[in-house]
Amino acid sequence: MRNEGSYHRAPTEAPPAPTGCPVQHEWDPLSVEYLADPYGISHQLRDDSPIFYSEALGYVVINRMEDIIHVFNDPDIYASTNVQDPVFPLSNSAAEILAVEDFNPVAVMSNRPEPDHGRIRVYTQAGFSNRRLKELEPYVRRRSHELIDAMLTTGSPVEFIDAFAFPLPGETVFRFIGFPETDDEMLKVWCGERKAFSWGKTNEEQQATIAEHMLAYWRYCRDFVASKRDDRGEDFASELIDAHEADNDEITYREVESIVYGLSFAGHEAVTNLICNCLWTLLSRRDQWDQVCADPSLINNAVEEVLRFESSQISWRRVTTEPTTLHGVELPQGTKIFMNFAAANRQPDLFHDPDSFDIHRSNANRHISFGRGIHFCLGAKMARFEARIVLEVLAERLPSLELVAGQEFVSFPNITFRGPEQMMVAWD
Ligand code: HEM
Repeated sequence: MRNEGSYHRAPTEAPPAPTGCPVQHEWDPLSVEYLADPYGISHQLRDDSPIFYSEALGYVVINRMEDIIHVFNDPDIYASTNVQDPVFPLSNSAAEILAVEDFNPVAVMSNRPEPDHGRIRVYTQAGFSNRRLKELEPYVRRRSHELIDAMLTTGSPVEFIDAFAFPLPGETVFRFIGFPETDDEMLKVWCGERKAFSWGKTNEEQQATIAEHMLAYWRYCRDFVASKRDDRGEDFASELIDAHEADNDEITYREVESIVYGLSFAGHEAVTNLICNCLWTLLSRRDQWDQVCADPSLINNAVEEVLRFESSQISWRRVTTEPTTLHGVELPQGTKIFMNFAAANRQPDLFHDPDSFDIHRSNANRHISFGRGIHFCLGAKMARFEARIVLEVLAERLPSLELVAGQEFVSFPNITFRGPEQMMVAWD
């Protein structure tokens, strides 16, 4: 975890505010108030201060959709090399743990610049084709029914994340990659810690534990790829190894290991959150849930509206590769940028009455939650199709589903991923 080209790089010192950039002393995406409601605070900032430097983060924050799209569309000036880096400096003990020679995942997609990004994406894109998703559909539908059967056996109420929202996307992407079922629980713990590692703020003791587990997680991915090399299956990891063996220059062995490491996280954390956010928003507005149950053709647009209104990913990052000007502010090279999706997805000149949740909204899919441009989310189709199937099956099997009264939406403290950590549901 040291040099350019590593999957995670140690964060550099926060640069000072660019000259002329308004500075926010209070704004803190890890504050209790922000985590509870990022939207109210973002509204005010978007309108009064569309671009500002956050002292708490050391990032320049942009709040308007047009600025975010501008940044996404110019990957040469706004590089994505920092998207998997920890936001805050690591403690010495954590850095020491990760300094071992074999903690060496390389940047592969979200954090890899062109031309290598395009070269690697060709191989991964093939695995996410419409045909591949079609093949996966019966599995996702069957598992959804099985998980509901298990919920019915347990009896109402249940904690929905443990019972359904984690296992389904986790298993889907783990089986897709080829991980054995026996490792699901371990992967779940590691992925939660990886979220804290890159996007959270942890104390020294937590950091050391997390660093140990990150190392174990990476070593697991390496051992897994090595075992697949000797024993191929009908899975994505085997396809990547085939591609590597067909042409080592096109995709290296270390890149195969790193793609497995990358996808095993990207492929489910945000989907678990999306499924929960779908249910939370719909069940809190009974009339809209009832409409979805009566007419499942409304589900696709309902999912888009959830991605706009209560997205599972409310920010993403970039760093400037050369001096440039953004929204009238001159940014030096090395400026870290925080793109505030929570503000842009509720921009009043783009979305009528943006703070109301409406499954019939005609332009709901104009949200920015999957990014834009060359790094546009590779798993967007998979995430959408999983959310659709889950809602179809739940609407059919459990139309009486409701949130247990008195719960609050408490999201894991981090700057990017958003979804309830616990969600109790009940049914008749
Ligand atoms: C609701 C669920 C999801 C959300 C909100 C989400 C969001 C995002 C965002 C914002 C980006 C960055 C785009 C950019 O930098 O321009 C991204 C990239 C990516 N996502 Fe997702 N994602 C989700 C699900 C998934 C799934 C299910 C997978 C894989 C199975 C996945 C794999 C990836 C990969 C590999 C990239 C990097 C693509 C590249 O750099 O070419 N994501 N995602």
